[in-house]
Amino acid sequence: MMKKVWFTGLMIWISAMTFLKAQQNTPAWAVETPAQKQERMAWWTHDRFGMFIHWGIYAMPARHEWVKRNERISDEDYQKYFERFDPDLYNPREWAAKARAAGMKYVVVTAKHHDGFCLWDSKVTDYKVTNTPYGKDLIAPLVEAFRAEGIRIGFYYSLIDWHHPDFPIDRIHPAWPDNPEAAKAINANRSMERYRTYMKAQLTELLTRFGRIDELFLDFSYPGENGKGHLEWNSEDLLKLIRSLQPHVVVDNRMDLDHTDWGWDFATPEQFMPQEWPIVRGKRVPWETCQTFSGSWGYYRDEYSWKSVHQLVVMLIETVSKGGNLLLNVGPTARGVFDDRAIERLDGLAEWMKFHSRSIYGCTQAPEEFAVPQNCFLTYNAEKKRLYIHVLEWPFKSLHLMGYKGKFKYAQLLNDASEIQYTINTTPGGHTTENSGANDVILSLPVQRPDAEVPVIELFLE
Ligand code: GLC
Repeated sequence: MMKKVWFTGLMIWISAMTFLKAQQNTPAWAVETPAQKQERMAWWTHDRFGMFIHWGIYAMPARHEWVKRNERISDEDYQKYFERFDPDLYNPREWAAKARAAGMKYVVVTAKHHDGFCLWDSKVTDYKVTNTPYGKDLIAPLVEAFRAEGIRIGFYYSLIDWHHPDFPIDRIHPAWPDNPEAAKAINANRSMERYRTYMKAQLTELLTRFGRIDELFLDFSYPGENGKGHLEWNSEDLLKLIRSLQPHVVVDNRMDLDHTDWGWDFATPEQFMPQEWPIVRGKRVPWETCQTFSGSWGYYRDEYSWKSVHQLVVMLIETVSKGGNLLLNVGPTARGVFDDRAIERLDGLAEWMKFHSRSIYGCTQAPEEFAVPQNCFLTYNAEKKRLYIHVLEWPFKSLHLMGYKGKFKYAQLLNDASEIQYTINTTPGGHTTENSGANDVILSLPVQRPDAEVPVIELFLE
C-alpha cells in the first residue's frame, strides 16, 4: 500500500517537473497547460472534417497554383490574369451548402497564396481582388455564407510572397536565377524587415475584420541555404500577434517552430497517409492531413488523376481511425464555381456522410484491446461508448471479431440501424461454422453488401 502511494507520488512529481521544464522555455504569452490546449482544440478534434479552398488568379491559367514558379513567369506576364480576373458566377452560399452537405464542419480558404494575390480588400497592398475587373471582396461574403451553414472559419495565409517587392528572392522564388550569385543584386533593395511588417499588418486585418477565426494555416517554411524559416519570418513574433488577436485560434506547424512545444497546434501531413498516428517527442500529436481531389490545389483543367468517391471516403475513415482530421481541398474555377468533377465527389461524400457521420464526429483511434478485423478500419467514440467497424471488403456472411466476447452488447448496421446478430462460438464443431477462439464473436452479416460506399457496423460497448 505504502509502496503504491510512494510510486503515484513519484509519477506526479515527474510529470509536474516535465511540464515545468517545458514551461521554462516557453515565452510567457504562450504558456498553456495540456488541459487548456485540449480544451482550446476540442471543437477541432471533434469535428474531424474540413474543406480547404485554394482560389486565386492562378485558376485562370488552370495549371497549378504554382504555375508562376513552375513556368518562371515574370510579374509582368502574370499580370494578364490579374487584369482579367472576373469570377462572375461566384456565389459562396452554393459552396457552403455543398460543404455542409458533405459533412465538412470547417473551411480554410486561401486569403493569400504564394503568388501574393489577396482575396480580401487589404489596406496594405494594391495586389488584391478589389482592383481586378471583379472589383469586390471575396472573403467577407464567403465567411458570412459558411457561418450561415454553421461552418467554422479558417484562413490560409502564405508566408511566401512571389509578388511583394520587399520579399527577398530565394531558391523557390520564380525569379531565382540560375547563378545564385546574381540573386544578391536583385535582393539588394529588398527588406525582410519591411516584409515582416507587411505580414503583420495583413494578419491583423484577417484576424480583426472577419469575426472569430478558428483555424489559421500559415504556409510554409524551407529553412537553410537560400530558404526561409522561423528566423526570417520571426515566427515567434507572428504567433504572439496571432494569439493576442484570437487567443483560441488553432494554428498549423509550418512556421518552422517544430522544435518547440508551444509554436504550433497540429502537424500537417500533406498528400500522404501516415502509417500511424504521428508522434512528436514521444507523444501522439493532433494532426490534420490536407488532401486534394486531383493532385494540384488550384483548379487544374487538364489533370486527370482524380480520386474516386470511394478513395475519398476511405481516406476520411482512415484518417479518423488514426486520430486525425481531414482537410479536403476544392479548387474553384475562375468563373467562381466548383467544377463538375468536384461536385460529383462532394455529392458522393454527402451521400455517405448522411448515414455514417456518427462514425466520424467525436471519434478517434480505437483502444488497442479491439483487434482490427480483416479488411477493416476502426473508429471509436469514447463518450458514447461505441465502436465503428468500417468494412472495406464485404465478407461472405461472417465477420470474425477476435477477443470481443463481453466487450459489446448490441450490434447494428449504421446505414439503416438494422440489428446484426452474432454468436459467441464457445462450442466448436459441426461442419457449417468455423471454429473460433472462446473469446471471439462472429457477426452474422447479410450476404448482400449494404448499399453504401463503405458499410459500417456500430457496436454498443459494455
Ligand atoms: C504547399 C504548397 C501549396 C499548397 C499547400 C497545401 O506547401 O506550396 O501550393 O497550398 O501546401 O497544404
